[in-house]
Amino acid sequence: MNEAADTSIESTLSENRVFPPMGTGRLKGATWRIDSMAEYERLHARSISEPESFWSEVASELHWFEPWDSVLSGEMPDSRWFDGAKTNVCFNCVDRQVQSGHGGDTAIIWESEPLENGVPETKLITYKDLQRETSKFANVLKSMGVKKGDVVTIYMGMVPELAVAVLACARIGAPHSVIFGGFSAQSIADRVHDASSTLIVTCDGLHRRGKVVPLKENVDSAINELSEGPTPQVITLKRCHNEITHHDGRDHDWHDLMAAASDDCPCEPMEAEDTLFLLYTSGSTGKPKGIQHTTAGYMVFTYLTSKLSFNLVPDAGQVYWCTADIGWITGHSYILHGILPNRVPTIMYEGAPNSPDESRFWSIIERHQVTQFYTAPTAIRAFMKWGDEHPNKHDLSSLQVLGTVGEPINPEAWMWYRRIIGGEQCPVVDTYWQTETGGHMITPLPGATPTTPGSCTRPTLGIDAAVVHADGTECAPNEGGILVIRKPWPGMLRGVYGDRDRYIDTYWSTISIDGKPVYTAGDSARLDNSGNLWIMGRIDDVINVSGHRIGTMEVESALVSHVSVVEAAVVGVPHEIKGTALAAFVTLGQGFEPGDALIDALKAHVAKEIGSFAKPDQIRFAEALPKTRSGKIMRRLLRDIAAGVENTNQDTTTLEDLSVVAKLRESQEG
Ligand code: PRX
Repeated sequence: MNEAADTSIESTLSENRVFPPMGTGRLKGATWRIDSMAEYERLHARSISEPESFWSEVASELHWFEPWDSVLSGEMPDSRWFDGAKTNVCFNCVDRQVQSGHGGDTAIIWESEPLENGVPETKLITYKDLQRETSKFANVLKSMGVKKGDVVTIYMGMVPELAVAVLACARIGAPHSVIFGGFSAQSIADRVHDASSTLIVTCDGLHRRGKVVPLKENVDSAINELSEGPTPQVITLKRCHNEITHHDGRDHDWHDLMAAASDDCPCEPMEAEDTLFLLYTSGSTGKPKGIQHTTAGYMVFTYLTSKLSFNLVPDAGQVYWCTADIGWITGHSYILHGILPNRVPTIMYEGAPNSPDESRFWSIIERHQVTQFYTAPTAIRAFMKWGDEHPNKHDLSSLQVLGTVGEPINPEAWMWYRRIIGGEQCPVVDTYWQTETGGHMITPLPGATPTTPGSCTRPTLGIDAAVVHADGTECAPNEGGILVIRKPWPGMLRGVYGDRDRYIDTYWSTISIDGKPVYTAGDSARLDNSGNLWIMGRIDDVINVSGHRIGTMEVESALVSHVSVVEAAVVGVPHEIKGTALAAFVTLGQGFEPGDALIDALKAHVAKEIGSFAKPDQIRFAEALPKTRSGKIMRRLLRDIAAGVENTNQDTTTLEDLSVVAKLRESQEG
């Protein structure tokens, strides 16, 4: 338990506007899949008391090569779902739709960032196209020696071939490890090494706000950083036609390989608990964790949550759009794996929301008649700042459901989203979940749940969420505590790749109830008097910047690895758009001078070590960091200093040297 978690957590937000669920006016003939709280409560109660019959009914909507012997077996944290069954995620996303006569339907709508003569390039990819392309790329993977169980690293921009690569891996049972295109060479190297991956699939570059990010060059540098193990093979797709270096024997051209590949590759029947993918996420210690998800449970869970949280209905003219990048869990679960089995077209947009201008997203919604729109609070705050004139220029009346994810949404942003984007006609679903949970854990259901801005409301079906004290007893209403999940759910992570101890320590050792471990999410929360849940923030040293978790330790290690720095502390400070930004306090070694040039160099160094999104907004130089007598850095005091709080109420009686604080306040802001 860390110091933040065992003191009581105070809630400062008091918000009591309630919006009843919407009518069906915008649904174009479709209905709400769950249309009353009574129905939600009945289903939820059943999903908790009879998980086996509940989940087996959901699972029977999907395709299985062989049925399961048991729905749920084993004890947390080693629960197993659908043991004995054989299935394939790519089959359920793609082949199942072709077999049922929908091969010609649109599976993916792709739109380019660059415009030509003022218009973007658009590609409509059918299930049949996806079946052919994933089969071909699966054969390419096989020809490169990839076997079931081998981890394939994918580091690409948001191009259709990224979806093809991910699904092709699932087709042959090779776990995919997708790395977000914003990560640096060092981060790629760490992930490739940790997963012992021998193949990297990449692009020459990716388009971002009119510039080209040189992905292949980053992969080349990553491979240079790898000191041990075999040199990975690299397959490169040409997207931006920027110059790349070719290494004989190592580099392969996507297009040449695909031209020669057969389009016949049946889906591999996978064991229910075979690994589907690894996705690396920051932890509170330096090393990223390879979160491991398996096949059947993840598939069933993301299928159901996609269907219910967004009210997906095939053949009802819906077009679904999630603006996340497939490099994050949101893109895995809610662009591809959970959406495609629901047979509603899913949009993949290549670029930035402000390219060529701030109305890009709204023009996409209008052009494609988007019905479900899923984005992040940090984006919504940016839209608010850019001004209502951008959305107001476009017809957004196709929208039916609005979603948010990634961090707590402030009520003002929630209200703006509902009013300006939804025209007061669309429910806002604030979906709380994590990389580790695979899919939505707490969220309103759009046709059933009354919503209150800032609250993610109720647990999804099958989720037994509670807010507890450190000893496992439940908190009283409105008393902040630790969010736990008391029962296994199909989408739960099954491990941290190659690190059993870290899996147990991080998620299953903090709290036990009735002598049994329960899942701790690392977030604090409260339950209000009406039964709604509110997320209050992280309880570990992980900071949520623009909806992305960044481990402060990781940034500190990156700073300390710079020749000039001897000690660093990184804390979060409130930020208008990002929600929270990083502020770093650094102590320099002998002979190094503070100054703007060094601030720039340190920021560039963090970008090189981790990625630009982890660059601190502020860097301050300190002769010493405030420490307790036992040597612990006083982070809460630093947070106050970074946020400009004049009269900190933090207890400084244990501070080793009081003058440190005064000096820090005088220190230059970066
Ligand atoms: O702190 C919570 C916050 O994001 C964390 C999970 O981050 P990540 O694994 O990167 O996944 C982000 C996308 C699922 C959580 O522990 N978080 C996510 N969604 C919400 C949220 N906090 C409040 N409200 C949310 N809706």
